[in-house]
Amino acid sequence: MATKDQMKALVKSHADGDDPQFYAVAMQVAAKAARTGQEKFAQELRDLVNDLRESADNKAQVASILPLTKPRGELGALLNVSYPDSRLGDLVLADKLAERLQHVLLEQRQRDALAKHGLTPARRVLLIGPPGTGKTSTARVIAGELGLPLFSIRLDTVLTKFMGETAAKLRLVFDALAETRGVYLFDEVDALGGDRAVQNDVGEIRRVLNSFLQFLEEDTSESIIIAATNYPELLDNALFRRFDTMMNFALPDDTSVKSVIKNQLSSFQVSNLSWPRIFPAALGLSHAEISTAAENAAKRTVLSNRTRVRTDDLIIALEERPRQGRSSEDTRS
Ligand SMILES: Nc1ncnc2c1ncn2[C@@H]1O[C@H](COP(=O)(O)OP(=O)(O)OP(=O)(O)O)[C@@H](O)[C@H]1O
Ligand SMILES: [Mg+2]
Repeated sequence: MATKDQMKALVKSHADGDDPQFYAVAMQVAAKAARTGQEKFAQELRDLVNDLRESADNKAQVASILPLTKPRGELGALLNVSYPDSRLGDLVLADKLAERLQHVLLEQRQRDALAKHGLTPARRVLLIGPPGTGKTSTARVIAGELGLPLFSIRLDTVLTKFMGETAAKLRLVFDALAETRGVYLFDEVDALGGDRAVQNDVGEIRRVLNSFLQFLEEDTSESIIIAATNYPELLDNALFRRFDTMMNFALPDDTSVKSVIKNQLSSFQVSNLSWPRIFPAALGLSHAEISTAAENAAKRTVLSNRTRVRTDDLIIALEERPRQGRSSEDTRS
């Protein structure tokens, strides 16, 4: 039977509208029942959870193929829309980042409850960190978990493409954002940083930045605004102030390296891997590079008809990946 803590966790996840957590706890109850000899009950509970999960997935799929919002005309050239089905469990995040992400999701899920008290949920998130550490993935997870469309806009492209008209284009995006609730990802937001002005017109960038700040300030929509950058040092301080949640991504530590590799190799036996030899080979690599290396090692394993991934294969694959010149010193929050 469920323990007191499990009962509490069930009630809390129900109240939070957190279905994945609810089902995860139900599965724990089933596992405990199985251990204490109640195999029949355990199996019934597992079947029930699996059926419910499946029908929830089907519903989500139906929702995502409905002809939702597809930006047309001018807006279509600015915004790229997708309907991610990414989940929290797909991401490997340091504890602090995972906490922040869960906090944003919880406030969004509970926005009606907050609204009754005149409170607004966190909805402006700034993602900072080196390439391949999970910024875009985080935007996809927020959209996937909340069942919202993800609209992406690359500020550097817009600036180059619409020189002189960028502020007017941004206005269109903010109009869309007020009209259609979704997750809006402004990627490469450092394009609005002063130092980029060498290649572009200083005055224009300044104007665009000021418009962007003003639009952010005026926006009272229910959409979630995410900005991402590899170069926080180029960002204007005024921009930082407009965001209520900041997430600083860094290259993975050993625990995260292990999780990324295990996730990628989930269909292989990995118990024989020698982690103390693997960690040094992964040093300086991003989550994205480690994941690619693990995939390459997996292919090598399959092609040589093995079921176990060899430590040496993994090390060779890791050593082949390009390392970033940047360090993971950025742990500011
Ligand atoms: N934290 C992570 N956990 C699990 N997988 C990750 C993580 N970060 C990156 N990956 C893997 O690497 C791929 C690329 O990552 P992502 O696009 O999120 O990086 P990014 O931080 O947005 O990089 P960039 O600054 O280049 O845009 C993802 O699709 C995923 O497979
Ligand atoms: Mg990205």
